[in-house]
Amino acid sequence: MGNRIAWETASRKYVDEHQELLDEARNSSSLVECELAVLRPLLASKPAVVHLQSGNGLDDIALIGEGARSVVGVDFSSVAATAAQRRAIELGVNCRYVIAELPGAPLRGDCADLVYTGKGALIWLPDLRAWAADVARLLKPGAHLFVYEAHPMVPLWTWDTDEPRIRPDRGYFERSHVNDTFPANGAVEWQATLAEIVTAVLGAGLELRHLAEHPEPFWRWGDLDAAAWRGRLPNTFSLLARKPS
Ligand SMILES: C[S@@+](CC[C@H](N)C(=O)[O-])C[C@H]1O[C@@H](n2cnc3c(N)ncnc32)[C@H](O)[C@@H]1O
Repeated sequence: MGNRIAWETASRKYVDEHQELLDEARNSSSLVECELAVLRPLLASKPAVVHLQSGNGLDDIALIGEGARSVVGVDFSSVAATAAQRRAIELGVNCRYVIAELPGAPLRGDCADLVYTGKGALIWLPDLRAWAADVARLLKPGAHLFVYEAHPMVPLWTWDTDEPRIRPDRGYFERSHVNDTFPANGAVEWQATLAEIVTAVLGAGLELRHLAEHPEPFWRWGDLDAAAWRGRLPNTFSLLARKPS
């Protein structure tokens, strides 16, 4: 419950920045090239997309722009979902938002051609096996899960600008840590190793189709150019899995 209240407060940013986000959605795409490289062939068949932890909804507008027939966003922040719905209506895009705690999306099974998630989503979920089971339930047979997410090593990197360093107070195999940087300062973030994430996906009966680690972070703090973000270390990963037909 604590996290939900924190997200209701944090999501007010999306209300305050309504016009900027609207302009951003009109003039650019929030989907990055390593996402599009995997998603383009899937979006070509005009899938019905479910976006879990949809946040500000900019990815939903971009998914529609790239070919998705519809997007249903699910997020437990009513502030975020309402702001995303308002933008979708103003832009006339086929996105609908459902306010609900995950896992346990209140959507019928076999409803999605593509489940899309990431960019700061998995760290809020303590039970990835339950999350993966929920994803598998939502997918139609033959449909795909796509995740583009912070690499599980990221909590270990310092934000030093001269050299990348490993934080002495963090461990790759810890279950959680307290975020001490903007914007989630003070929040408890769950940790899962890359192996645990993949194992959760496979354990739900999905087939792994693509797994890649990328040097670029999905998010940067203002103008900060941390040495850990300059190409030597993993900062994101992308994963595609398929529900057997
Ligand atoms: C960092 S945002 C990322 C969202 C989205 N990918 C974006 O770029 O805006 C994380 C989102 O997860 C949502 N969230 C966190 N825990 C959740 C849960 N258990 N159930 C549903 N939504 C949750 C928050 O409300 C927030 O909108």
